[in-house]
Amino acid sequence: AAFDEGFVPSNLEELGQAVQACRRCPLWRDATQGVCGAGPKKARLMIVGEQPGDQEDLAGRPFVGPAGKVLDAALEEARIDRDDVFVTNAVKHFKHEPRGKRRLHRTPATSEVRACRWWLDAERRLVKPKVIVTLGGTAALAVLGRPVAVTKERGEPIGLADGARALLTVHPSYLLRIPEEAAKAAERERFVADLKRVRTLL
Ligand code: URA
Repeated sequence: AAFDEGFVPSNLEELGQAVQACRRCPLWRDATQGVCGAGPKKARLMIVGEQPGDQEDLAGRPFVGPAGKVLDAALEEARIDRDDVFVTNAVKHFKHEPRGKRRLHRTPATSEVRACRWWLDAERRLVKPKVIVTLGGTAALAVLGRPVAVTKERGEPIGLADGARALLTVHPSYLLRIPEEAAKAAERERFVADLKRVRTLL
C-alpha cells in the first residue's frame, strides 16, 4: 500500500495505482482520482505543472483541459513533440472548491506540495529526465525543494542534485488569465522562447 513508508514503486504503472491509495495529505477526499504523469517511461524531458484541473481530475490524465491546449500549442510552436515528453504535476489530486455547478481551482498549500513531492520524486527516479521544465511557482517549489520567484530565476538552467537540469517558466493558466491581447501575445512568445531554449539542453 502507498501509505506504507517502506513502499517504493518499481515502475510507473505501479506508481499510478498506488497513488489512488495515497493519504499523505487530505486532498484525495474531494478528488475523483489521483492523476500521475503520462509519457514515455524514459523521456529526456519532463514537464511539471501544478495539479490536475477539473478535466484532468475526471479524465485521469494531466494537461487535457484548457491549460493543456495552451501547452500543446506552445510545444508545437517550439517544435517539441508532446509524445516525447513525460508530463506530470507537482500535486496529484485536484484541490478545488464548489462555485455553483463548477469546481474552482485552489492553489495547493506548501504542506500539500511537500507531502506530494514523494510521488514526484518517485517519477523522477523512474523516468530520469535530463531536463525538467517547471510551469509556475508550485512546480518550481516541488522540483527545487525551496520557494522560488519564477520571474527572477526563469529561463536559466538550474543544476539539480540528481544531475538533471531544471528550467523554470510560467504556467499556461497564467497566460489564459491575461486580459489584454497584446500583453497576452507577448507573454506567450516568452513562454514559447523558454520552450525553444529547452531543445538546446536536451
Ligand atoms: N494545470 C496543471 O498544472 N496541470 C494540469 O494537469 C492541468 C492544468
